[in-house]
Amino acid sequence: MTKETVIEVQKQFEEALRNARDPRSLEEVRNAFLGRKGKIAGLFSLMGEIPPDIRKSVGQMLNELKENLSGQLEKREAEVGSKKTAGEWVDYSLPGYVLHKGSRHPLTRAVDDMLSIFQRLGFDIAYGPEVETDWYNFESLNFPPDHPARDMQDTFYTEGGGVLRTHTSPVQTRYMSAHEPPVRIVAPGRVFRNEAISARSYCLFHQIEGLYVDKDITFSDLKGTIELFCRMYYGKDVKMKFRTSFFPFTEPSAEVDISCFLCGGKGCRVCKQSGWLEVMGCGMVDPNVLKAVNYDPEKYTGYAFGLGVERMLMMRLGINDIRILFENDVEFLRQF
Ligand code: DAH
Repeated sequence: MTKETVIEVQKQFEEALRNARDPRSLEEVRNAFLGRKGKIAGLFSLMGEIPPDIRKSVGQMLNELKENLSGQLEKREAEVGSKKTAGEWVDYSLPGYVLHKGSRHPLTRAVDDMLSIFQRLGFDIAYGPEVETDWYNFESLNFPPDHPARDMQDTFYTEGGGVLRTHTSPVQTRYMSAHEPPVRIVAPGRVFRNEAISARSYCLFHQIEGLYVDKDITFSDLKGTIELFCRMYYGKDVKMKFRTSFFPFTEPSAEVDISCFLCGGKGCRVCKQSGWLEVMGCGMVDPNVLKAVNYDPEKYTGYAFGLGVERMLMMRLGINDIRILFENDVEFLRQF
């Protein structure tokens, strides 16, 4: 290694430096000359071959070269900016990135909203299985053996002889079988029906079941609770009515109608021109149901209700096709 080598390297460096006009190319020059595998390091690695008598002076020369290059590089960095300072410079006028937050599905939210209302009214929450036995889904609820709901047309049967529950009502008898009265529960969950899919019905939907059994429970208790619930969910101006009906597991039975959200009660396609939409079934627990779980019907009375979550939610949102709630269309879901 001679003085010429050093001068040559210095020339190369200076030329490269002149051509480097942005932080990135400056960084490349730094790596090429002053980096761990750069030219200077290469020269230092040859020191072993230098005869001992001039090794010291050559070393000094290399050190001076290194310092010189570093100094020049720093100066140039001050002019065009370095990788370090480039990283620190932020253009606050640039538009930001929009971060899309996930959110709960509107159905999950509807169930949560409804449950929290019932919890404030004193109800506990209970759950039951989606694959039920015939006994809980039908028999214990006073369905006669030839009831049409048992038909293959409506019910999905599993290979092992179970049924996909067609309603959340079996949670009533499950819960009562395991607890002594008084019981006061709501049971949310999915239910399944083998129905033709349309704007009004889907093969799976959600219900919330309610059950209150104690001494001296009357139909007035039921009515007061349902009215309060509907006002808490829809707002105090909601119009509703109780219409007599029939269910095997309640006597007397009723259905609750809400004034149609789409036409404001004038009559339209969704409410089948009636101005009203049915949102739940309810009634006083049939003595046969109490007997099925060994409750004494002479001592205890109770009320029950089962509401359709999709129906109630569709009315609150003004949706006229149930399928939109199951399609996971991101454009739709982003609104919530
Ligand atoms: N299980 C009924 C259905 O799926 C709804 C229902 C009606 C539930 C009356 C009840 C009730 O608890 O008392 O259509």
